[in-house]
Amino acid sequence: MTRPAPKAEAGRAVSTPAGPLARLWQALRRESRFWRGVIYDARRFRRHAWLHRARSEASRDARMLADAHFLEYGMALRAAQPGFGRARAVRLAGDLQGGGQATDAGGIGRDTLRVWTDFNAGDVPDAVAHLLGDQGTHEPTGPAGVTHLNPAEIARDTAFDYLAFARSRHSLRRFGADPVPQDKIRRAAEAAQYTPSSCNRQTCHLHVWTERALIDRVRAHQAGNRTFGHELGGIAVITSDLRHWEHSGERYQAWIDGGLFAMSFVHALHAEGLGTCMLNWSVDVATDKALRRTICLDDAHAVIVLVGFGTLAEDLTVCASTRLPIETVLSMNPPLA
Ligand SMILES: Cc1cc2nc3c(=O)[nH]c(=O)nc-3n(C[C@H](O)[C@H](O)[C@H](O)COP(=O)(O)O)c2cc1C
Repeated sequence: MTRPAPKAEAGRAVSTPAGPLARLWQALRRESRFWRGVIYDARRFRRHAWLHRARSEASRDARMLADAHFLEYGMALRAAQPGFGRARAVRLAGDLQGGGQATDAGGIGRDTLRVWTDFNAGDVPDAVAHLLGDQGTHEPTGPAGVTHLNPAEIARDTAFDYLAFARSRHSLRRFGADPVPQDKIRRAAEAAQYTPSSCNRQTCHLHVWTERALIDRVRAHQAGNRTFGHELGGIAVITSDLRHWEHSGERYQAWIDGGLFAMSFVHALHAEGLGTCMLNWSVDVATDKALRRTICLDDAHAVIVLVGFGTLAEDLTVCASTRLPIETVLSMNPPLA
């Protein structure tokens, strides 16, 4: 028999089944939950990623961003050579011609293609020349192609103690009662947009609730906040759009890009003077489906992680969460085979 955990216990219950049959039953249930989860994730990836062809506007947008990135990448290299990337440029022109001009990604694609055309002194495939010719002149939507950085500006913008900043963030599990100012959330979201993303595809999305009743409905699906979630001033669900992913090798990329994005968001909220706590989404299929129903999440999005946040409480007692020695994470010049 499995003993029930006390109600208010934080985290997962630690339980040991009493007899061999109960242990076998538990092992079988765990195994089946594991495979159900794997198949559930794989099927969603298969439904939405563009393994063979881009079937949605979102996939076409992602492909335009990736192709534009390939072109800017080539132009940014020290050994930049005119003539590279012709096949990508033709595909990008085709996506723009096929309806892609109307989207934000299309604007980036078109501007990049124009810079690439200048880089190639006009010696570009007909499809590209026709596309740009048909469109006449237009104002670029923003910086496109390559941009030149100034080391003095970088030095100015990084003149603070990042280690101290990183050390001063803690997962908070008590929060102030004041509402979280919306502009702070917007600034943090904007900062999170500067997270690196695979081929600049920017697949992540923040779904944020700041009203008490709504926070409670969302957080009810997540076990790790139950001892303190009633104090949160906001909750974010971070998702990645699987339509932005291309091939089987990218089957876990949603979690990688999503994790990076989540960390940027948390650090940005910290920089805004807010407290945060990541809330894991290590859940089984039924829980994932239940949250998705509550927040009306598009089937194409995978939930990566949740972030609880709020204003700072007066009393900031936190877990020390002592770090292991640096040698446990850093091996400098380890021997090679
Ligand atoms: C992906 C992820 C999920 C987490 N989920 C929870 C959670 O559900 N509940 C919670 O109280 N803390 C959660 N945490 C916070 C960790 O316990 C915390 O980051 C760790 O103990 C280190 O402490 P620090 O964040 O204060 O440095 C999570 C952290 C990460 C990175």
